[in-house]
Amino acid sequence: EVMQKSILGGQLPLVTTNPNRLEEQAQKAMPTKGFDYIKGGAGESATMDANRLAFRQWKIIPRVLRPTNPRDLSVELFGHKYDTPVLMAPIGVQALYHEDKEIGTASACANLRVPFTLSTASSTGIEELVKASPDGPKWFQLYWPLDEEITASILGGAKANGFKALVVTLDTWTLGWRPCDLDTANVPFIVGEGDEVGFQDPVFRKKFAEHTDGETPEDNRIGAAMHWLSETFPGVSRSWEDLAILRKYWDGPIILKGILSAEDANLAVQHGMDGIIVSNHGGRQIDGAVAALDVLPDIVDAVGKQTTVMFDSGIRTGADMVKALALGAKAVFVGRPIVYGLGIDGAAGAEAVLAGLLADLDLTMGLAGVKSVGDLQRSMLRRVQYPG
Ligand code: FNR
Repeated sequence: EVMQKSILGGQLPLVTTNPNRLEEQAQKAMPTKGFDYIKGGAGESATMDANRLAFRQWKIIPRVLRPTNPRDLSVELFGHKYDTPVLMAPIGVQALYHEDKEIGTASACANLRVPFTLSTASSTGIEELVKASPDGPKWFQLYWPLDEEITASILGGAKANGFKALVVTLDTWTLGWRPCDLDTANVPFIVGEGDEVGFQDPVFRKKFAEHTDGETPEDNRIGAAMHWLSETFPGVSRSWEDLAILRKYWDGPIILKGILSAEDANLAVQHGMDGIIVSNHGGRQIDGAVAALDVLPDIVDAVGKQTTVMFDSGIRTGADMVKALALGAKAVFVGRPIVYGLGIDGAAGAEAVLAGLLADLDLTMGLAGVKSVGDLQRSMLRRVQYPG
């Protein structure tokens, strides 16, 4: 359909269909502060680059004379059937990129029946989001505060508003070394009035008032943002035993995000977790960390039969999705590309990017001779190495 409109209909696409030009188009359209925040990796961006290079090292071996229509892209995750194995990754502070913010990306996802993951660091409160974009499956991502009362309040809000699964991000108990923000003194967590991250949580508000002798976050926006940052990224890592705290406040599936080691994947299983996301946070935390795709096969071999292994970090095309799924991921999360679409044209831009990626996935599977997601196998890939 995307191809028909552009090639046969002569209708130019809203957003470029060339994955290598998307960032450039977004840079022209987006506020500088937003673009700097999203494009950046940690350090010299070695891990961000590695995420892409890792995909280049796998090639697809297509099969021919295999009818692949109609194709079935559906998957089952934690007892729910989804139309495709694609989700939107949690991305914070979306008011930085476009005034449609999380409401824009969530609506784009809902229109395409793609699960949307709301970040703890969102510019849109949980209730505000669900009111503005009630349709479509939603997952919630937790940045885990040390304060148990705040944790309980955030999880209570997510549960009351119908979020289906909890994604707990473990690689960001403190922010990585990000020159893009440090060199520009970018404080991404304050955007415009009403778009402050995290201010809506009632327990956070109560504690802030206690801490400041009665001030509300609105009276002292900078102070409240700093207080929120110190609660959310406390600079102290949790331990495996602490996972029991989350079970007290969340009875649905719990998924650990930011797993790169097979040992940790095993520990996640031992601690009764429902799933993991193999991810290096898009290269934004440890510069020099391994590409997420490079460790995916080891982790699938270690725990793929016992738990649901999912993947993000570096997905830019349908072929990338095919590769991660063939290496054993049950689903993949798309991050930066959707938000570039948001920056280019709000909700419609986010939807254009996502629709393009889903079409590309469908087409690539069909051309490779694969009829359903369950038929994607490691044997259809060949690992190659080109010089340089
Ligand atoms: C992120 N990511 C992220 N992860 C998370 O758990 N909570 C969050 O609030 C954010 N915020 C965020 C902001 C921005 C601007 C980026 C680029 C990323 C990480 C995200 O969920 C995912 O792991 C990466 O985006 C994957 O990398 P690619 O494929 O987008 O490069």
